[in-house]
Amino acid sequence: MLEFNHLLKNYQEGKTLPQDFYTDSNIFSEEMKRIYFKQWLMVDHISRIPNPGDYFVFDAEKESIIVIRGRDNEVRAFYNVCTHRGSRICLDEEGSKKLLVCPYHAWSFSAEGELKAARFMPEDFKKEEWGLRECHLKIYEGLVFINLSLDEPMNFDEFIEPLKEMMEFHQTSKSKIAIRKKYPTHANFKLVLENFQECYHCPTAHPELCAVQDKDWVVAMGAGIGTAPQKETDEYLNKIKPWVEECKKNGTPSEVYLETDEGLKKGLNRYVDRTPIGNGNLSQTKDGKPASSLMGQFKDFDGGLTQVSFNPFGCCYFTNDFGVMFIFKPISLLESEVELIWLVNEEAEKNKDFKPEEVSYIWDVTTAHDTTIIENNQEGLLSQSFKPGVLSENESAVTYFYNWYFTNMQLP
Ligand code: FES
Ligand SMILES: [Fe+2]
Repeated sequence: MLEFNHLLKNYQEGKTLPQDFYTDSNIFSEEMKRIYFKQWLMVDHISRIPNPGDYFVFDAEKESIIVIRGRDNEVRAFYNVCTHRGSRICLDEEGSKKLLVCPYHAWSFSAEGELKAARFMPEDFKKEEWGLRECHLKIYEGLVFINLSLDEPMNFDEFIEPLKEMMEFHQTSKSKIAIRKKYPTHANFKLVLENFQECYHCPTAHPELCAVQDKDWVVAMGAGIGTAPQKETDEYLNKIKPWVEECKKNGTPSEVYLETDEGLKKGLNRYVDRTPIGNGNLSQTKDGKPASSLMGQFKDFDGGLTQVSFNPFGCCYFTNDFGVMFIFKPISLLESEVELIWLVNEEAEKNKDFKPEEVSYIWDVTTAHDTTIIENNQEGLLSQSFKPGVLSENESAVTYFYNWYFTNMQLP
């Protein structure tokens, strides 16, 4: 941690981080241990594995986790590491198997993680002691969360509590995957996360998103409430008052949750808001019209957009008719991956009620553009001429993100 404390001395509030934060491999491995492996990470939607034996593999940094539904219908997560000599067991991204057979010497494990067969082992070898190592897992509203901590992780109920009301309104447990897409990004994960903490870049980088969203939202709320100058924020909140009143009358949520000081001290960074898309648009689509049937507890379209952020590694956006799960993964010092999973009502029929390419249009083009601007950022940041720049008043959530990052790096 010597390096981190040393680097921290070179940070000046209001500016971006010094270059070494993005290029030092010791810092990167400390970040994995101190931050990434301690968070509850949203990794997928449960509808991906409906039947016993169905599994998928979640890979991030050096870790690979098998999430599998057992014959007892319980979903469990295991390290994809054979207990014989450590080989990867599942080499495919997903599948369905009665037994997980290691490709090295064919030790085989049940879908519940028990070792079932191992040839020529000494007489005193006890199979029951050599099952797969389990990883912390929680299913919440159909979303699969894992925690890579080797110790007891933060209590999940406490973690999810402030986000519950909004999540339960959108009923992701009654949805299914419409389409999914990966965006490999040649950049340090912090550049990927920082980019998602500000919408200062939106008018230049995202014409499609800015065409559907109210332009005042882009400034005042694009990266969440409180991330724009006070004047713009106040004007925007004033403008949407009638819509918020309407929500209250209809019993649809419009609350905001900002992380508390107490939460931040524990290393948390959760967020919720719900605002109108604006411009008379009902959904975040190319033409602003709905792309699927209503989701969750909505009785009618009200053109709202919900943002629920679990931590900087995962968040969900919801319109009235679909949801988008954003999963941000560190891969190595200069490699990351963004994965988007779009959800629709579980009753909606493909090509009848929704077309995957219409549901995914806005966030697909937007994320593809984000990949390019993040990679440009990484390339320039590697220059010998780089020095930290001054953040605008429309990027205050980046400073908040740094505070969250420093807090986690320094927690015992
Ligand atoms: S390493 Fe898996 S069976 Fe040998
Ligand atoms: Fe963006």
